Amino acid sequence: MAMAVTSTSTCASLCCPAPRPPALPSLLNPAPALLFFCPSPFGCRNRKVSSHCHGSGIRASLSNPTPGPEERIDVSRRQALLAALAFTVPSSHFFQRKGDFQALAVDDEKTKIDLIQYELKKVLTKGKSAGVLRLAFHDAGTFDSSDNSGGMNGSILFELERPESAGLQRPIKVLQKVKRELDLAFPVSWADLIAVAGAAAVAECDGPVIPVKLGRLDSSGPDPEGKMPEETLSASDLKQAFQSKGFTTQELVVLSGAHTIGNKGFGNPNLFDNSYFQILLQKPWKISGPDDGMTSMIGLATDRALADDEECLKWLKVYAADQGRFFTDFATVYTKLVNTGARWGPSLQA
Ligand code: HEM
Repeated sequence: MAMAVTSTSTCASLCCPAPRPPALPSLLNPAPALLFFCPSPFGCRNRKVSSHCHGSGIRASLSNPTPGPEERIDVSRRQALLAALAFTVPSSHFFQRKGDFQALAVDDEKTKIDLIQYELKKVLTKGKSAGVLRLAFHDAGTFDSSDNSGGMNGSILFELERPESAGLQRPIKVLQKVKRELDLAFPVSWADLIAVAGAAAVAECDGPVIPVKLGRLDSSGPDPEGKMPEETLSASDLKQAFQSKGFTTQELVVLSGAHTIGNKGFGNPNLFDNSYFQILLQKPWKISGPDDGMTSMIGLATDRALADDEECLKWLKVYAADQGRFFTDFATVYTKLVNTGARWGPSLQA
């Protein structure tokens, strides 16, 4: 039976009265926060019928089993998400009965965060964590308090060609997978996703668990250039650079402790601990090179500069002696970092 269906707001002749359907997901224009789960025996669990039922104004024919590119809402992935939700949040949070139709509303922050964490868990390994945390710094670190420009706004997606962004394509790719899945369920901004992912990266490497709230809006273009601190800066220039972003010297030091993960010679590259501070207190700063007996400096010039500055040194000593204090302060300042410069959606003011 060939049957043309023009789906606007209903497909009752087929199976169920569908409310306003979700838009198709795209990178910066995600779908609204509703997933539809049709119980009809007619076949809504069948991908192609479902996309007719719930697609937005999609014109399609049941005799043509191949959905157009924009129709490929992957219902099985939605259902997997839905099943995951059933385990992570109480059903009363998200199931609403509407006649013979069930809607999954993903409209509370806790549920969204659970889902983001769930999807991140699938892709985030210890090995990928350092890059993801660095990505969070590069998105937020452009903030300039003098004109309130930059900050945590997803603009890093437009800045990947800049020299300081070298290597950031990789973590973006990791998060793109997560975003694609999430966009099937509810809109998540890049700024929110990167902020939550940076915190998840810290936790993945056994660092502190840092709660991150949602609601940041994405920028539609790049932030001004030349705002990221260069790795050749002296301690006083670093302090100045962080001050212009609203961060104190203590906050500069505690945030720099993020370099404890990654491959800059601060102990276990996959363990978020306070070895960054302990190793910076031990001179000479040499690490063994691979096989050839060569040695190389640990850390970046900016890391070593901290140990040669009296005010920074004071904080290096505090965190070298007390990992608990490092974790507590890092969590606080990371939260400040990912809220810095953010523009918030109407319901979630900073
Ligand atoms: C103080 C100023 C900072 C400078 C100049 C700086 C610069 C750099 C540079 C040049 C790298 C090496 C990138 C590469 O391997 O190609 C790096 C790595 C890294 N940075 Fe920073 N950074 C700074 C602060 C921060 C902050 C505040 C954070 C996070 C809160 C951060 C997180 C990271 C991480 C996790 C890595 C390791 C990335 C990896 O191994 O893939 N950095 N940083």
